[in-house]
Amino acid sequence: MAYQTLQTEVRDRIMLITINRPEKLNALNNTVMEELDLAIEEVLSRDDIAGAIVTGSGDKAFVAGADIAGFQQLSVDEARALSIKGQALFASIEQASKPFLAAVNGFALGGGCELAMACHLRMASTRARFGQPEINLGLIPGYGGTQRLPRLVGLTRALHLMLTGEMITAEQAKAYGLVWDVVAPEELLPASMTLMQKIVSGPPHAIRHILHCAYLFDAGQQAGYAAEAQAFSECFATADAREGIQAFLEKRKPRFQGK
Ligand code: COA
Repeated sequence: MAYQTLQTEVRDRIMLITINRPEKLNALNNTVMEELDLAIEEVLSRDDIAGAIVTGSGDKAFVAGADIAGFQQLSVDEARALSIKGQALFASIEQASKPFLAAVNGFALGGGCELAMACHLRMASTRARFGQPEINLGLIPGYGGTQRLPRLVGLTRALHLMLTGEMITAEQAKAYGLVWDVVAPEELLPASMTLMQKIVSGPPHAIRHILHCAYLFDAGQQAGYAAEAQAFSECFATADAREGIQAFLEKRKPRFQGK
């Protein structure tokens, strides 16, 4: 299938999905999200595909977040719908019966970090940077980050990252257990392919059961996702979020006033 914002190719039963908006650091706009949904469906429905690797185009970014330009006119109700849509999209990766690996080649910020966290496995290049900088916009993570980050790195580190908006390096991400390994940029795709080939050479039914069972402890977390979508949308009623989003687009520091 041909996509506008994704490049896809299948090699040795692995679909390589490259998010391809390098001029906007592969930020997730509506088209990217809709096409990711279709690509996930393609991976799941095609018998000749056993798993997928998700990466970003260019050498700068994996995904630098949700597209902030699309946030400017967002009402509270639209923000809630967007959060629920992003959560559902990333849940469909997490709940997939075939393994997804994020090959993080650069900035994985906001929705980009959330996308990487929704994948079952993560490899990083030395150029990768991870963070949840939504606080700088007067917002919070809205595509599952408030739930997945504490689970993957622990509450202390997750709260620090979400409350400060600070970025961490690939090596720190490895030390935190957020990624499996860090390799040179030119090694990222070969190393990711090698790992995925090893995995998909195994028995598909056992792979499917492991992927299913490993997330079952999450069953009680639906309330967390609902609270996140509600809180994310409420941010859009604040002057601080309007200021944070506008300041980013105008390339200046935000002036938050607590309103
Ligand atoms: N949404 C929309 N556009 C984005 C974007 C995003 N999340 N991240 C980057 N871009 C755009 C920039 O606006 C810029 O577009 P322009 O060339 O048309 O002005 C282009 O991508 C390149 O980004 P730029 O900021 O110039 O690169 P940089 O190297 O100076 O900084 C970052 C890189 C990642 C630190 C910076 O782009 C950034 O902070 N991005 C936003 C991260 C974020 O807050 N994500 C969470 C969103 S909820």
